[in-house]
Amino acid sequence: MIPAGDTQDLPPTPEPMEFEMTKIAIVLGSTRTGRAGAGVAQWVLHQARARGDAEYTLIDLVDVDLPQIDEPVPPAAGRYAHPYTRQWAQTIAGHDGYVIVTPEYNRSFPGVLKNALDRVYAEWNNKAAGIVSYGVDGGVRAAEALRPVLGALQLADVSHEVTLDLRTDFREFGATFTPAEHQTASLATMLDQLVSWSTALATVRHGPVHAPGGVTVQR
Ligand SMILES: Cc1cc2nc3c(=O)[nH]c(=O)nc-3n(C[C@H](O)[C@H](O)[C@H](O)COP(=O)(O)O)c2cc1C
Repeated sequence: MIPAGDTQDLPPTPEPMEFEMTKIAIVLGSTRTGRAGAGVAQWVLHQARARGDAEYTLIDLVDVDLPQIDEPVPPAAGRYAHPYTRQWAQTIAGHDGYVIVTPEYNRSFPGVLKNALDRVYAEWNNKAAGIVSYGVDGGVRAAEALRPVLGALQLADVSHEVTLDLRTDFREFGATFTPAEHQTASLATMLDQLVSWSTALATVRHGPVHAPGGVTVQR
């Protein structure tokens, strides 16, 4: 026991740790002219920023404008040949977690989103993702199709998803976004899960990348 006032043998007080805010990107997975997705992504961004628990930014795949995958080596090898792939890799590397906003197209998610996901690999690994889907039945089939792809990229997909219904959360079949009241609470639940996993997974992002087929790539 140390007598009160006797501090000479105590270890020095550690310097306060630099605190970096968790960074979450909202990836808008539809690029169609007149897309309903623009309103959905803006709503997610607005609600998320009001929380003050992470840094939220919007990534619009229209602005990213990636060509169809044309890398000569599979992305898991980490040898990106094209400057636009390297730029995309840098964008993805700068975040700890992602909200994927996706419509349902023919019972799945859009090809432009698959291309963006497929194009890089290690930059997605050991991070978290949450899904906001929309469609006739809340886009649930798009969300279900997306989950195994996220798993392949070693992205931990949180369980709660926001499902927006074209008949009740929009008007004129997508032209105007008018989310039902309960959707705000639903989004908050998903973001709670996402921020906690995104923050926790930062601790495992070190060492080599274990790519598919038993290939190990040093960072
Ligand atoms: C190519 C295409 C296929 C679609 N297939 C489906 C579908 O399988 N299931 C569904 O619920 N909605 C489907 N829809 C309706 C879309 O979910 C709806 O139009 C939505 O607004 C599309 O998102 P976006 O406006 O952001 O592109 C489809 C729309 C398009 C353009």
